[in-house]
Amino acid sequence: MRILGIESSCDETAAAIVENGKYLLSNVVASSLDLHIQYGGVVPEIAARSHIEVILPVIQQALDDAGCNWGAIDGIAVTYGAGLGGSLLIGVMTARTLAIAHHKPLYASNHVAGHIYANFLTATSLPGYKMPPRQPAFPMLAIVVSGGHSQLVLFRNHFDYSLLGQTHDDAIGEAFDKVAKMLGLPYPGGPAIAEAAKKGNPNAFTLPKAKMGKYDFSFSGLKTAVLRLAQAQINESYAFPSTKLSERLSEAQKANIAASFQRVAIETVVDKTKLAYQEFRPQSVVIAGGVAASSELRQQLADSLPLTLYYPDVKLCTDNGAMIATLGCFQAMLSQPEADPYTLDIKPNLSM
Ligand code: KG4
Ligand code: ZN
Repeated sequence: MRILGIESSCDETAAAIVENGKYLLSNVVASSLDLHIQYGGVVPEIAARSHIEVILPVIQQALDDAGCNWGAIDGIAVTYGAGLGGSLLIGVMTARTLAIAHHKPLYASNHVAGHIYANFLTATSLPGYKMPPRQPAFPMLAIVVSGGHSQLVLFRNHFDYSLLGQTHDDAIGEAFDKVAKMLGLPYPGGPAIAEAAKKGNPNAFTLPKAKMGKYDFSFSGLKTAVLRLAQAQINESYAFPSTKLSERLSEAQKANIAASFQRVAIETVVDKTKLAYQEFRPQSVVIAGGVAASSELRQQLADSLPLTLYYPDVKLCTDNGAMIATLGCFQAMLSQPEADPYTLDIKPNLSM
């Protein structure tokens, strides 16, 4: 079973080909990130326009890299939600058209589930990928931590899962991005905070952890606490604008704030994961989404769980087509319903 996966939910235009839900044949990602950096975040109209420009060459590159022609492809999987409406539309319309033109079954894939399925890739002949030797076993606890999502999901089997909890406000990646902005660090904030934190003391400051339902998260209070802390560091009141903070904070203060924020944000996720592990005793724990690239998260989780942790190669943590192609393989192999190429619509607010 060889599936072409297409992903365009945010600022990455991506396509990949995966065989049998485990073997990565090609993985092409074109990002419009450079165009968004000057605005400090993704601009939906710019993202949609660059998807239009590059999506066909990206798909062709994915076919070429895999040494496949259309005859070698068994189906097309496309992200239909969640994501930015204009961005999703380009991927979905392209996939629908290609499915009709080349007579291929079409599968509508959930972006968040896709992030989780990146953990099922175990082999590739492409250079520079680190993959686990085997696929995670069920029951599987998935920790989804990205720019748009913070969720704990318990999978009893493929396509049989329960959402244990999720964030009530900001996603964890969003908190990284906003705190980075306050500290004058570039977008995306996750890697920038991680870099700054290396020079700081993670215990320099105490920051609050939100008291939420057992498996739920909240990161907006933490973000505000960081703002108040930064204002206090330069002896200013809460009225001091966040956009002017970075000019006044010293490099040492920034590093300490970054390190303390990173520790607390990640501890929040690790605490809930430990609770879920104790309650459900899963056979495997996987992390997924952009923040799964965080070495601090990987380390803290590895230190606190008595089993091997699964995480995708860093290149497969942020948005990519391989995760959608992998999920698409399982949709096809396990006879999940096909999408109608004449009517498939986007679902910008799709949840797990
Ligand atoms: O999964 P993703 O590419 O997009 C969404 O579906 O949201 O995640 C992007 C998020 C951004 O918020 C970025 O700051 C965060 O992932 N991120 C990280 C790291 N690398 C990316 N967060 C913490 N540490 C990192 N090393
Ligand atoms: Zn994502």
